[in-house]
Amino acid sequence: MSAKLIKGTEIREAILEEITSEVAKIKEKHGVVPGLVTILVGESPASISYVTLKIKTAHRVGFKEIQDSQPENISETDLLALIDKYNKDESINGILVQLPLPKHINEKKVLNAIDPDKDVDGFHPVNVGRLMIGGSEVKFPPCTPAGIQEMIVRAGVKTKGAEVVVVGRSNIVGKPIANMMLQKGTSANSTVTVVHTGTKNMDQHCKRADILIVAAGVPNLVKPEWIKAGACVIDVGVNRVGEKISEKTGKKIAILKGDVDFEAAKDIAGYITPVPGGVGPMTITMLMLNTLKSLKFKLNIA
Ligand code: GUN
Repeated sequence: MSAKLIKGTEIREAILEEITSEVAKIKEKHGVVPGLVTILVGESPASISYVTLKIKTAHRVGFKEIQDSQPENISETDLLALIDKYNKDESINGILVQLPLPKHINEKKVLNAIDPDKDVDGFHPVNVGRLMIGGSEVKFPPCTPAGIQEMIVRAGVKTKGAEVVVVGRSNIVGKPIANMMLQKGTSANSTVTVVHTGTKNMDQHCKRADILIVAAGVPNLVKPEWIKAGACVIDVGVNRVGEKISEKTGKKIAILKGDVDFEAAKDIAGYITPVPGGVGPMTITMLMLNTLKSLKFKLNIA
């Protein structure tokens, strides 16, 4: 293995420590802590485990945290009323509705109902627009792209003038990270290409990348021949390819694979993120950072 591993688990610990100490200082000076509510509809095991981790992390850094679980058959009207209640709640700075929602609920309508100044996921069209404009307009960058950018920067990878190739054009990862990396500024200023299912010769584009960000949701899509020697490879894929018994807990857990053939890629890349333990832990970390930012904007100390 020649590549340097970029470990999200380690970066997470450093950032959560920073957040914890800032929360304590704000509490002492202003008498308030950030408040985060997570709204979970239904009982999907994956969603329950994500939300549980978000709430646990919020508790760890000293936030006020509310987990609001609602039945699968909640009406759209009732869900919108619940969001309205939290929009008006002065103690809440961040509202997160865990996705996906049941089919009978219009996801777009729900996301658009969240106050953009409490939209710590960064999914509201107002925040998408702010991200596109860039600079001081940006309030809440979406959590996974923000985590990716943080990892690149903390690893010491040069972004100015770098060829960045993004694989995938989702609203949650591909489109926003492409947008963030092309902005002016010290953590970006890159030349960005986005490749997707309509792209011809995807491998040729990837081969040019100094920074290759893969968010396609296809296990082992990126082959070692697609990677330039020394490139920084960020694997956003979390593909459940089977199950195994955990050595730690004795319970059944998912076997996860990324979108990059890690075993082969690690001998070619200069930097690489593992799966699991790479981008995954960064998403929740950046959610905490956005919730802290939301309170700071409100107190005018951002
Ligand atoms: N479901 C999967 N990822 C996410 C996320 O980042 N935010 C929300 N709200 N739901 C999700």
